[in-house]
Amino acid sequence: MPLIAFVSPKGGVGKTTIAANVAALLAARGHEVLGLDLDPQNALRVHLGMPVREEAGFVAELDSSLAWPAALRHTPYNVALLPHGEVEPRRALELTRLLMDRPEALADPVREMLADPHRLLIVDSPPGPSPALSAIMPLIDLSVVVLLADGGSASLIPQIADGRFLGRGTLAMRAAERAVLVLNQVELHAPLSTAVLDCAEATMGARLLGVVARDPGVAEALADRRLPVEVPGSRAAEDLSLLAEGILGRLTLPSATPTAGHSVLTHWGLRR
Ligand SMILES: Nc1ncnc2c1ncn2[C@@H]1O[C@H](COP(=O)(O)OP(=O)(O)O)[C@@H](O)[C@H]1O
Ligand SMILES: [Mg+2]
Repeated sequence: MPLIAFVSPKGGVGKTTIAANVAALLAARGHEVLGLDLDPQNALRVHLGMPVREEAGFVAELDSSLAWPAALRHTPYNVALLPHGEVEPRRALELTRLLMDRPEALADPVREMLADPHRLLIVDSPPGPSPALSAIMPLIDLSVVVLLADGGSASLIPQIADGRFLGRGTLAMRAAERAVLVLNQVELHAPLSTAVLDCAEATMGARLLGVVARDPGVAEALADRRLPVEVPGSRAAEDLSLLAEGILGRLTLPSATPTAGHSVLTHWGLRR
């Protein structure tokens, strides 16, 4: 516990970059962090300094008898990692079908991962809706929705605010209440960037959890096998640290933890 998922209706917005940096920052503060990559792009391992030639992973083997602890890798950032694993496009479609038919194939092991009260689970996800994300949706304590400060992203902010991007009905609304927004690649003095930031502030209020500056050092850091937060003077690094703090702050909010009452639920074995 708890589970923090980095999600977005869009791709290429910085989900993996931000997930990797937040995971490393929280591990550096002494938290036990487990990264789980649900995206067939299999990129979280690269950000966390794993050798590219290591192609094995967890989701890629979901229909085998491989138990998740056997798929665990240790990264230089003290983040334990379950990489997605390399998959051919055909195999990715097979996994999609598997997760649509049997969401518990993913939800059950994720529940086991969350059974350790000291473990923080950071999930990187593919863009848009996916059966993998749907499978773990009820288990998510905080969805960090990442968007860019551009027109395409701005048009999606109302859907983030009312939860439509997660689906319809009460279950999606419940998940939406646990969603916060992060605007990435913000340029403080660029008119479009600031206009989108104003809209996000007005629409999301306190649920605009963070803003990360556009910083060419972010892509350069990856090419140098480093994280932006390790690069002295990186403009994005300070924003990423503040975001990690904001995420920790959100997790202590009462809505993110079970309510104290209704003890009979514990008595019946329905709640730890
Ligand atoms: N704050 C930033 N400033 C500049 N470039 C960024 C920033 N955040 C991410 N990027 C770049 O944007 C691209 C997409 O990031 P990525 O994390 O792979 O997005 P996603 O996981 O949403 O597809 C990468 O090339 C990354 O280096
Ligand atoms: Mg990604």
